Amino acid sequence: MTHCVMIRSMISFPEFFDFCLPTRVVAQVGAVSNVGTEARALGITRAFLLTDAVLVKLGIAEQVLAPLREAGVEIAGVFDSIPPNSETKVVERAAEAARAGGADGLVACGGGSVMDTAKAVGIVLSRGGSILDHQGINVIDRPVTPLICLPTTAGTGSEISRFAVVKDDASHQKISFVSDHLCPRLAILDAALTTSMPPALTAATGMDACTHAVEAYCSQGAGPFTDALGMAALPAIVETLPKAVADGADVAFRAKMLIASAMAGAAMSLAGVGCVHAMAHACGGRRNVPHGVANSILLPHGLGFNAEAIPEKASVLAAKFGIAECEKMSAGARAERLVAAVRDLSGACRVPQRLRDVGVVTGDLDAIAEDALADGAMFFNPRPAEAADLRKLLEAAF
Ligand SMILES: [Fe+2]
Repeated sequence: MTHCVMIRSMISFPEFFDFCLPTRVVAQVGAVSNVGTEARALGITRAFLLTDAVLVKLGIAEQVLAPLREAGVEIAGVFDSIPPNSETKVVERAAEAARAGGADGLVACGGGSVMDTAKAVGIVLSRGGSILDHQGINVIDRPVTPLICLPTTAGTGSEISRFAVVKDDASHQKISFVSDHLCPRLAILDAALTTSMPPALTAATGMDACTHAVEAYCSQGAGPFTDALGMAALPAIVETLPKAVADGADVAFRAKMLIASAMAGAAMSLAGVGCVHAMAHACGGRRNVPHGVANSILLPHGLGFNAEAIPEKASVLAAKFGIAECEKMSAGARAERLVAAVRDLSGACRVPQRLRDVGVVTGDLDAIAEDALADGAMFFNPRPAEAADLRKLLEAAF
């Protein structure tokens, strides 16, 4: 028995956990052609499509609309003005258009920003009022407008998660909506929809998936089911992401990333995340740093900080990153190698390495640290942190 296996056996199951994964997942290349029959099966008669302008231009939106029409589902409207890091005013505009079109179901085809916007639109459509009235944990206590997600990136996990995050354009802070009712009814994982993703977006979103797997495993909310999902996803991401970045036309790499990303997203949805996401949300809110890029830059720093509090888990993570003979190292050396392995992965994928390279300036760091400390993701961080700790991590990542 290796030392790593012994360490694993020492990790005991918690006395309590709550696991619910309500989203049905269908994965197949070409599965977009079934979206119409699937919508009908969910009782959707007038579907409102949320997507972005690039996907309309690439003809991907039409690949969704055609099978909806063929199945007899009417199109209540198409909303394609969704920016990366979507905002509350975009949600309100889209909800108004969906209501005017008489939508009884939503279809989201896009990345995390599109899918999170669709979730927020579903809240406004079914609950009324302003989107700001419904923020927080379990404020949404009844089913919302049914949503089908077709992710075109592999990383966000929104297609399976109970989270939606959008930016409040008044405060510049990211606001979160958390409820089992925000889990989409169906996630269609069609890898062919992701082959047009450029290398930089593939890399950034893939590093988001990597961060979900790592942070969910380290989270205080982790349990045996989420560990199994995240730790099956992580080696698949470590092995496949550089290949998907280098050869985006290979549908097998794309499919593996799409499935691993959904598994990591499920782990994240149930276990929660930690300080890396908290700081990434703050960077997105203040400076519009893309979520995956911010996570990729901050993951080695956040993981290095947390590893001290969770040495057994750091050891399992080191093994998942393929670090040879990690069982022979001291806890400190293992944590160092783990941090280096995360950097190697993001470096191999050519993701920016420093916050100063993605629009953050020194004068932002105090405000980002304060925003991050107030972020709900900090609730599950395995090591207690003050604003000064986060400030140090941000400085190191700057
Ligand atoms: Fe994320």
